[in-house]
Amino acid sequence: MTKTTSVLLPLLLSIPLSIAQLNTLAQAAGKLYFGTATDNPELTNTSYVAQLQNTLDFHQLTPANSMKWDATEPSQGVFTFNGGDQIVTQAKTHGQIMRGHNCVWHNQLPDWVTAGNFDNATLLSIVQNHCGTLVGHYKGQIYAWDVINEAFNDDGTFRESVFFTTTGTSYIPTALRAARAADPNAKLYINDFNIEGTGAKSTALANLVKQLKADGVPIDGIGVQTHLIVGEVPTTLQQNLQNFADLGVEVAITELDIRMTLPETPVLIAQQTADYQTVIEACKAVSGCIGVTLWDWTDKFSWVPGTFAGQGAACPWDENFLKKPAYQGIVEGWQS
Ligand SMILES: *[C@@H]1O[C@H](CO)[C@@H](O)[C@H](O)[C@H]1NC(C)=O
Ligand SMILES: *[C@@H]1O[C@H](CO)[C@@H](O)[C@H](O)[C@H]1NC(C)=O
Repeated sequence: MTKTTSVLLPLLLSIPLSIAQLNTLAQAAGKLYFGTATDNPELTNTSYVAQLQNTLDFHQLTPANSMKWDATEPSQGVFTFNGGDQIVTQAKTHGQIMRGHNCVWHNQLPDWVTAGNFDNATLLSIVQNHCGTLVGHYKGQIYAWDVINEAFNDDGTFRESVFFTTTGTSYIPTALRAARAADPNAKLYINDFNIEGTGAKSTALANLVKQLKADGVPIDGIGVQTHLIVGEVPTTLQQNLQNFADLGVEVAITELDIRMTLPETPVLIAQQTADYQTVIEACKAVSGCIGVTLWDWTDKFSWVPGTFAGQGAACPWDENFLKKPAYQGIVEGWQS
């Protein structure tokens, strides 16, 4: 994309060379980490790996796919951890911490789960075994787990996944308790999208967390995915993060990217830079917001173009691994 390069080059040249990098700045702001998602096929690119293991930028990794149900229990009771193990080894070698992703989600489920016609008790035992075995395999090696992923619809009702339609909400405490038993030191999160600003979905999630706490169910954190669109950062982001933290749980920005309708223009790039800064400032301002994770750091491996037709350029590095102005937006956010 030569047109991209020609647009970006003057802007890149204006970024001062600096040792200020994303993780060093996050930690200077009192956060635990700045990190990124990654995926196993990407690890064959040595230039990519060189940046992935740059601990000045990244002190935390999340496997984008290889700990999901279809990857880890493709047949009932048959567990495969090779992909997840590879990411954990990659992180450990460089002293990076891990977020585990995820135990229970309605997507990337094997057919044996979705089409098994299990009754309530059987599906609960399947959830318990899956979460317990998965989290147990990585005991002591994962800082935090997304135990429950995307349990809600945007209107705040529960998503009618196979788990909800079969067990009601019972699968949620079952998964959380299994995870706690399997690794008592891992922080257990509920993770979702479209909970960046206040609204019905954020309220529903907060109510669930309150209920879980009242019931004595282990819950330690709320993961705010933060897959945003350029120019659409919710004005209530900081207040919403604070509201979540006020429930007495950790809050983390777990899957940050900010996409645009292509092609990139100087106006969109400038807005994206400002938007990244706004997101970081919101986390910085809320002491309970403990870290930020990009949903991969380079446009080369972003999920956006494959999911949202005509959109992309969502990451702080471009497809050639050059820093974009968005990178500087993150720097400014931590430094503000
Ligand atoms: C599923 O079983 C649990 C545990 O016995 C129970 O609390 C819950 O109400 C059941 N859910 C449904 C939808 O029957
Ligand atoms: C890694 O990705 C970069 C940037 O797109 C590309 O130039 C390079 O050829 C890739 N290397 C390998 C070994 O695939």
